[in-house]
This record gives sequence, structure tokens and C-alpha cells, in this order.
Amino acid sequence: MKRFEGRVSIVTGASQGIGETIARELAAEGAAVVLVDIQKDKLEAVARSIAESGGRAEARDADVCDPAAADRVAAAVAAAHGRIDHLVNNAGITRDTLLMRMKEEDWDAVLRVNLKGTFNFSRAVLRTMIGARYGRIVNIASVAGQMGNAGQTNYAASKAAVIAFAKSLAREVGSRAITVNAVAPGFIESAMTGALPEAVRKTYLDLIPLKKFGLPIDVANAVKFLLSDDAAYITGQVVSVNGGMYM
Ligand SMILES: NC(=O)c1ccc[n+]([C@@H]2O[C@H](COP(=O)([O-])OP(=O)(O)OC[C@H]3O[C@@H](n4cnc5c(N)ncnc54)[C@H](O)[C@@H]3O)[C@@H](O)[C@H]2O)c1
Repeated sequence: MKRFEGRVSIVTGASQGIGETIARELAAEGAAVVLVDIQKDKLEAVARSIAESGGRAEARDADVCDPAAADRVAAAVAAAHGRIDHLVNNAGITRDTLLMRMKEEDWDAVLRVNLKGTFNFSRAVLRTMIGARYGRIVNIASVAGQMGNAGQTNYAASKAAVIAFAKSLAREVGSRAITVNAVAPGFIESAMTGALPEAVRKTYLDLIPLKKFGLPIDVANAVKFLLSDDAAYITGQVVSVNGGMYM
């Protein structure tokens, strides 16, 4: 039996990158996966491709910033499946610039997606999880939220906040057998990082003891562990997936 057979997972920001890989991996392990994103066409293509390879996936076009949309998705999933076992708060954006030049919109946009999105979806699924006395929530944070990064005051603050959010919620819902953890990726190969100049990539590599960038699957493996029964006694923790860049 696959380890997530019978489980229902919601993954936000699932139309590409790390979220797509997490969604594919959960489906491959038997979960019925609900993919949430604002990129409707890409999202539907990913859901179709998961279904074509024998997995269970459905696309829900929703903006994590919108609390009503989060409530609608959670209500529809609970009605259709009768359960929500996993929530992975992965949707995230950057608006990098030095603080002196940062516009209020840059600050608000990043906090709205990365932090408020996590609040919206976590609150939306909680009633169902509490009713079931079972649940797993994983927030995708970042090494920037642990060690800071020049040019990312907004992003780093939002990622430190989703760690604090996970710890606080873990304390609230632990008695209902719901765990809440964070995964903090370091430098992961992605469309964004692939476009960096060679000199910048080299500077980052020098900081990483394992001397290579991570892959989306490295993050997905940590998420799968935290969602699994093997992690039943782990809550309020941060799992760093960063090649040793920050210890
Ligand atoms: N790539 C890295 O090196 C790295 C490192 C540390 C942390 N992270 C975090 O991992 C997560 C995924 O990153 P990625 O590299 O795959 O990024 P990405 O930009 O490739 O994917 C992010 C996804 O989130 C979606 N999204 C954005 N705003 C949304 C909204 N309002 N509502 C719903 N969906 C929305 C996007 O459409 C996209 O599909 C993010 O939270 C990011 O901060 C990434």
C-alpha cells in the first residue's frame, strides 16, 4: 500500500516549481491532491498530467490572498472528499530590493501572499482537521527567514513569520493530533535561480558545504516525511533543506 493512500492533500502554489513537485510526489504516493494556484492553465495542465500518470489530482483556481477563496476551496474539498489530511502552504513570491528603495506595494504584496495566504488556508482547513482529530500542515519557509538576506527584508520577514506561525499553531492544535511544521529550503534550482549570472551562483555555492544547489525533490522529500506517520511526534519544528548553508 502506498503511504498516502486515502489521504487528501491541498498544495498551494502547485502550478510550477517546488509546489508542482510536491503535488506530483504526494499523488505518486496515493494521495488525492488538490492543486491551488492563480495560474489556471498551468495548474490544469499539471493536474491533467498527474491524472494521466495514474494519480488523483484536481485543480482549484484560487488566490491564497483571498480568505473567502480559501474558505470556498476548503469547503468544496471537505464536501467532495469528507476529509482534509494535509495542507502544504507553498505559494510564495519575492519582490526583492533594498529597503531604502522598497515600495509599500512590494512590502504588502509579499506579506499578503506568503504570510496572509498561510493564515487564510490554515484557518480554512482547521475545522475539518479538528473534527477528524488528525491533520498535518507544512509551511514552506526559507533560509532567508532564518539568516536574513540583503535585498529581501520583506521576503525574509514573511518567511520568519510563517515559522513563528507554525510554532504557535502547533501549540494550539497539538491536543487534536494535528502537527504544524515548516520546511526551510536554501538555494533550490528553479526558473528564478537558473537565470542568475554565473558569478552570483558561484558566490552562493561557496557558502554551501554540499557544494551544489538543491532540487525541488529535496524539498518535497522533507515535506513528505513531515506529512507521513513517521513524523507523528514532530511538531512546531523547522526542517532545513539547504545543503548546510545555514546550521
Ligand atoms: N526556489 C528557491 O530557491 C526557494 C528557496 C526557499 C524557499 N522557496 C519557497 O518555496 C516556495 C515555492 O517556490 P518556487 O521556487 O517553486 O517558486 P515559483 O515562483 O516557481 O512558484 C510559486 C507558485 O506560487 C504561485 N502563487 C503565487 N502567488 C499566488 C497566489 N496569490 N495564490 C496562489 N498561488 C500563487 C505561483 O503562481 C507559482 O505557481 C515559495 O514559498 C518560495 O518562497 C523557494
